Amino acid sequence: MQTVQDAAGLRATVRGWRSQGHTVGFVPTMGNLHAGHHSLVKLARARTDRVVASVFVNPTQFGPNEDFERYPRTLAQDQAGLAESGCDLLFAPDVATLYPFGAAGSVSLRVPEITDTLEGAHRPGHFDGVATVVCKLFNLVQPDIAIFGQKDFQQLKVIERMVRDLSLPVKVMGAPTQRADDGLALSSRNQYLSPQERAEAVQIYQTLQQMRDLIAKGHARKVVEQAAASKLERAGFLPDYTAIRRADDLSEPAEGETEGLVALIAARLGTTRLIDNLSFD
Ligand code: PAF
Repeated sequence: MQTVQDAAGLRATVRGWRSQGHTVGFVPTMGNLHAGHHSLVKLARARTDRVVASVFVNPTQFGPNEDFERYPRTLAQDQAGLAESGCDLLFAPDVATLYPFGAAGSVSLRVPEITDTLEGAHRPGHFDGVATVVCKLFNLVQPDIAIFGQKDFQQLKVIERMVRDLSLPVKVMGAPTQRADDGLALSSRNQYLSPQERAEAVQIYQTLQQMRDLIAKGHARKVVEQAAASKLERAGFLPDYTAIRRADDLSEPAEGETEGLVALIAARLGTTRLIDNLSFD
């Protein structure tokens, strides 16, 4: 597997593949890769002739009090894992390559409406940073398909909408969330958890399952959402939201609506903020 840091090197390699008629799959990441990321690379490998992954801790998607500085940077380990999962090219740019005018001087994309709720409401500006960097990466890599984990469900929806709205020539695919044996969704942030918090963290997934089951039994959505928040609070979490939404656009379903829904939770456990979701279908 080749690693390049500059746009010219990336473009030259991809151009070479294109000249041989190869298709290109792309997996954007912020590094500190785990089995969830590797499953995305394997999916790309199965769908396209060549696979590019990027590792870039994107400063514009972190708020001022978030974990940009402490976000784990583990490039050597990521390179080994990517090579093993079947990645052909790792693009690992520095900030100046993606933000030649600095983060503050950069063009910034805003995907309206769908970013006003849930993560967007609790992390102002987060999705502007995500949309901006993903659009830049798509322009550089020019992949046929790009694969994102469904764990970041709202992010996937935001990117799908951006691609459609800007007519970007890339097919966006969501891949299933990878979970630990007890059900905790794999995330780079899990390593911030103490052993006791790690044991308790599974309650997020258990609460999502309970939300799904209660809706299937006909309980009112708002009651289910409130019960989920109370359950997590009693267990020592500080929930930002426990929500049931339409999976296609994250709008609020009508009372009694049971098809095409997704439950989403964001909650703090100690100093760690965890998110997860569960589609009901
Ligand atoms: O999901 C992530 O790791 C990031 O938000 C992404 C899509 C790589 C953009 O920085």
